[in-house]
Amino acid sequence: MAKMWAGRTDGVVSKIADDFNSSIKFDCRMYEQDIKGSMAHALMLAYKNIISQTEADTLIAGLEEILADIKSGKLEIDFTAEDIHMFVEQVLTERVGEVGKKIHTARSRNDQVALDMRLYLRQESYSIIAKIEELLKSIITIAEQHVKTIMPGYTHLQRAQPITFGHHLLAYAMMLLRDKDRFLDTLKRIDISPIGSCALAGTTYETDRGFEAEKLGFKEICQNSIDGISDRDFCIEFLSNASILMMHLSRFSEEIILWSSWEFKFVELSNEYTTGSSIMPQKKNSDMAELVRGKTGRVYGDLMALLTTLKGLPLAYNKDMQEDKESVFDAVDTINMCLDVFAPMVATIKVFKENMLLAAQKGFINATDLADYLVKKGLPFRSAYKISGSIVAKCIQEGKVLETLTLQEYKQFSDLFEEDLYQEISLTTCVEKRISYGGTSFSSVEKQIEYVKGKING
Ligand code: ARG
Repeated sequence: MAKMWAGRTDGVVSKIADDFNSSIKFDCRMYEQDIKGSMAHALMLAYKNIISQTEADTLIAGLEEILADIKSGKLEIDFTAEDIHMFVEQVLTERVGEVGKKIHTARSRNDQVALDMRLYLRQESYSIIAKIEELLKSIITIAEQHVKTIMPGYTHLQRAQPITFGHHLLAYAMMLLRDKDRFLDTLKRIDISPIGSCALAGTTYETDRGFEAEKLGFKEICQNSIDGISDRDFCIEFLSNASILMMHLSRFSEEIILWSSWEFKFVELSNEYTTGSSIMPQKKNSDMAELVRGKTGRVYGDLMALLTTLKGLPLAYNKDMQEDKESVFDAVDTINMCLDVFAPMVATIKVFKENMLLAAQKGFINATDLADYLVKKGLPFRSAYKISGSIVAKCIQEGKVLETLTLQEYKQFSDLFEEDLYQEISLTTCVEKRISYGGTSFSSVEKQIEYVKGKING
């Protein structure tokens, strides 16, 4: 069948080329955005007397019907159509007759597709932000229960200093708050209307781009029609935000996987969010967390794909740009799935406080505090550090821990040691003493919880 754009050519394309060229299999997900864009366009055309009000009413009624029919399943998407824009226009003309052909006055698929993508990403961004907030709420609920749960804090994956589990979880909350902010900030650049840029140069009709943008809820319109149709920065920004979000979820997943192992046994995921092995009956695998970690790679891939697609493109529209959709849609689907599974997975996690404490009691994570004790008694830090290190070495050699060494043994290293040292090196004291802003002390963690709470739903 000849294409709607048949003009210079007869519009008959080889089947192979037609399939290759077609984007409807993926851009059909933007049918609602496309139809709503067309409704606003019809309104504007009538407002500016480019078409009559009766014509606009007919077009809008037809479009409304198409929208309802696609939603109810009465109208099936025809996958032989070139793209969603062509499909809607074709059905509209079939249904309302000749007047349907007027909808494409003073616009082009170039500004239409840019509009659809912006409408789509605007909607998705708000829903992703809401999901990030759900995850934040799950994290806060667990963090609140573990303000005083002592665990080892790690650097180089070596036990470093005692912290609380609540403190550790809040580090992830801070990352997610930044993710939320990034999606919100990108909305400033998504929420700009390109419609009316037409093919690239604008139009000879006296249109009102502001009117049309307002009908679609845009705060601004793009200032340059060439930029209006060639700009995909907002997609790249969205993919970049998605990649950073996935990186955070992936780091969190990695810890959940480690903590669930017998070697750590700090947490256990609920059965609902784990799987078994087909051969090893004892297994309980953290598949969801592993998949989130794994899917991070594909979202990075989506970002790289689009950056690469755009890098060599001359202005203005090129068909290469059709490739933006699959990357964006894949990232949207992936982060939605990951966020959907992550929030309840975290909310139902079982925490083994005793194992965390046991791990914290090994590994001499109070050695810094032992050195600090000597500093407070007047020794320079470097000398105190050396003494503390020698005491740790003695303990390792003799299979002891700092808490079980006698005062007499301590005194062999320095006369400054007194009975009060035991109080100073107790894990609870070590945690409680870290009162610096953002630190691990109970009161500081409570403040961090309040901070995060103040940032969600606000
Ligand atoms: N399906 C196309 C895309 O996604 C729509 C724009 C087509 N424009 C054109 N000049 N052929 O990019």
